[in-house]
Formats: sequence, C-alpha cells, structure tokens
Amino acid sequence: MLRHLESLQGFTKEELLGFITRAITLKQERLSGVQHLQLSGKTVGMVFEKVSTRTRVSFEAAMYGLGGQVIFLSGRDTQLARSEPLKDMARVMSRYVDGLVIRTFGQEVVTELAKYATVPVINALTDLHHPCQILSDVMTVIEKKGSIENLKIAWIGDGNNMANSWIQAASIIGFELVMACPEGYDPDSQILESARKQATKPITLVRNPEEAMAGADVVNTDVWASMGQEDEQEERMKIFAPYQVNSDLMAKAPADAIVLHCLPAHREEEITEDVLESDQCVAFDQAENKMHMHKAILEKLIDL
Ligand code: CP
Ligand code: NVA
Repeated sequence: MLRHLESLQGFTKEELLGFITRAITLKQERLSGVQHLQLSGKTVGMVFEKVSTRTRVSFEAAMYGLGGQVIFLSGRDTQLARSEPLKDMARVMSRYVDGLVIRTFGQEVVTELAKYATVPVINALTDLHHPCQILSDVMTVIEKKGSIENLKIAWIGDGNNMANSWIQAASIIGFELVMACPEGYDPDSQILESARKQATKPITLVRNPEEAMAGADVVNTDVWASMGQEDEQEERMKIFAPYQVNSDLMAKAPADAIVLHCLPAHREEEITEDVLESDQCVAFDQAENKMHMHKAILEKLIDL
C-alpha cells in the first residue's frame, strides 16, 4: 500500500516505535557485518531545495547500504526552478524512481507531490516539519534512556519545524513535552491544538526556560534562525539570548539529563561549546542514528 511520510501525523504509536525498533536492529546488524540488500534494484530520487549535510548523506548512505541507488537533484537543477507544476514532476518522477525524498520550504509542496506521486514521498524537512529527524531523535533517547514514555522532554528556543514534529511525536507516542519559547516564536498553533486532543501526557508551552528544565530527562535545542530566516538572525539573537543552553541553564536540569541537538549547531548562540562537547550531549550519536532510521523508513515505505 502506498504510504507517504509527510509528517508524523497519521502514523500510529506502534508504527513509529516500529521504525525505531527496526533502525536499532539495522544498526546492530551493520556493526556485526551483516550485508543488507533489501533495496537492491530500487532507486530513490532526492530533490533538495535547501542545503543539507546530514539528511542528504544519511539518506544516500542508507539507500546504498540497503543495496539501492540514489539520484540527487538540487532544486535549481530541476524544471521546478522554471515553474514546472509539482503535479507534473510528481507523476514523471514516479515513472523513474521507487521513492522521493524532498527537502523544501512550504509543507504544501510535499502535500502536492504526495497527492500526485505513485511512489512514497518522504519529507526530509520543510518549514513546518522535520519528521525523519525526530524519529532519529526519539530512537537516540530510547537507546540512552531505555524508553521514552515516562520521560520529560524539554524543548528550549524556537517553536520551529523541529518543535512541531516533536509535538506530534509526543502526542502519538505519549510522553511529556515542555517547550520554552519566547513570545511570538511559539510552535504552530494548529499542530499544538490537534496534538493536545490526542495526547495522553501534557504538552506544555512556557516562557521561562528554567521552568522547562526542572525535572527534564532530555534537553533539546536547535538554531535560532532556521533556513530561510537568515535575514531575521540579528533580531533573533537578541530575543533568544535568555534561551541559550549553557552550563547555568543545564544546572537547572537533573545531572543525568541528556542534551540533543539535530545539528548544525551555532556555538555560543543556542548552545555553548562546553555543553555541546560535554558527556551529557549525544548530538553525534543522534546524527549517526539518522542513517539507521532512514534505512528503516526506506525499507518500510518502498514497495519491495
Ligand atoms: N539535522 C539535519 O537535518 O541536518 P542537515 O541540515 O545537515 O541535513
Ligand atoms: N530548524 C532547522 C533545522 C536544521 C536541520 C532549520 O530548519 O534550518
């Protein structure tokens, strides 16, 4: 059955945890030298209208690691740059490849591609969501802490695409999420409202970062200006200054709290060098897990 990954919404808890269990198995098998060839003969098309290091390379490595192949196109290399309708591109690409991975600005681009594609469309980041990243992040939490349902996850900073996908994960999987964002930089209100209806644990929004840190098992942050918001950087630097994850703020969380950052990190902005390089920070395991998670996603969604 054709299934897209536009956001985490629409997936069940069992399905999300299924991706994680499978990614952990694939990770262990790779370490033991097991050769994976499940996607042999399959090709994925990747269209990236924003830059990427981790997501691009980990999707490509995942596809090759499963015996498949990748065709990468930057946005400006396609006729999209010359206004070819998305519905035409979706139908044409579907004749060539077995899956599409897209990184773009508007979520509506992913929605439109998914509407017309006859192969799975996977969201590799939009302004609104970063679902594959959050699956890797939850995987990392489960690896480090054993499980996530009884943990308190803190989000410090911008209510951005990452924050929105964390909200969906919290409501579907069922864990407590507290987000400290400055006024005017809240997560998407519709996503928050609909997640709260489905949630079994509190999803809270506070203004004071110290309040979010109290009792937090996981401390999460991200850049203050996301891709596409570069012209707001200077203004955001002032507004977000109290939300920096530094050793003073970390002292408000339990000593065994772990720190997540999806990277790239802007040192001395949203996170200080000492926190990022501390033993509490698991950002590089998190980055590695993207590859294992992308294997699990590709294996599940691509028609075998
Ligand atoms: N975390 C993440 O998505 O990084 P890239 O922008 O490098 O892909
Ligand atoms: N919020 C960031 C995430 C980068 C992986 C951005 O959209 O730029």
